[in-house]
Amino acid sequence: MLSEKLEAALNEQMNWEIYSAHIYLSMSSHFAGEGLGGFASWMYAQYQEEMFHAMKFFDYINEAGGHAQLGRIEAPQLSWDTPLAAFENALEHEQGVTARINAIADLAVEEKNHAVGIFLQWFIAEQVEEEDSVGDIVGKLKMVGDGGGLFMLDRDLGTRVFTPPADA
Ligand code: FEO
Repeated sequence: MLSEKLEAALNEQMNWEIYSAHIYLSMSSHFAGEGLGGFASWMYAQYQEEMFHAMKFFDYINEAGGHAQLGRIEAPQLSWDTPLAAFENALEHEQGVTARINAIADLAVEEKNHAVGIFLQWFIAEQVEEEDSVGDIVGKLKMVGDGGGLFMLDRDLGTRVFTPPADA
């Protein structure tokens, strides 16, 4: 059972995850246009992961007796000056997502809705990984600058494939 307030917060987050997916798909398209196929592929996998997050909210809201409601999604930014600027943008976005998830977890505690609290635990742990993986790439981009290291990093990032986690 969900209160109206909690149902609205979960719906807002579901739509925010779709917005996140659009940001990363837009980054993928940007990198493809820049000839950075590995970066484009990494961002495409990130887009798939965000849609997986969105669908976890979608399924949960409906299972918990609520109504998953799709809303208007803001258009994402279309281009970035450098790969570093894009990944810094991604890191800032993920830090915002963490804050949003934590705020919903606070609301669940306030309402003593332990089922929602348990559902959100997966996302709380996931956000630690999200910030870590994007932060790691930001660090590498700062190290390599615009030189040949960018080519190596592009090749490295191109190996990422999204596989839905077995524990989800
Ligand atoms: Fe769904 Fe990247 O947070």
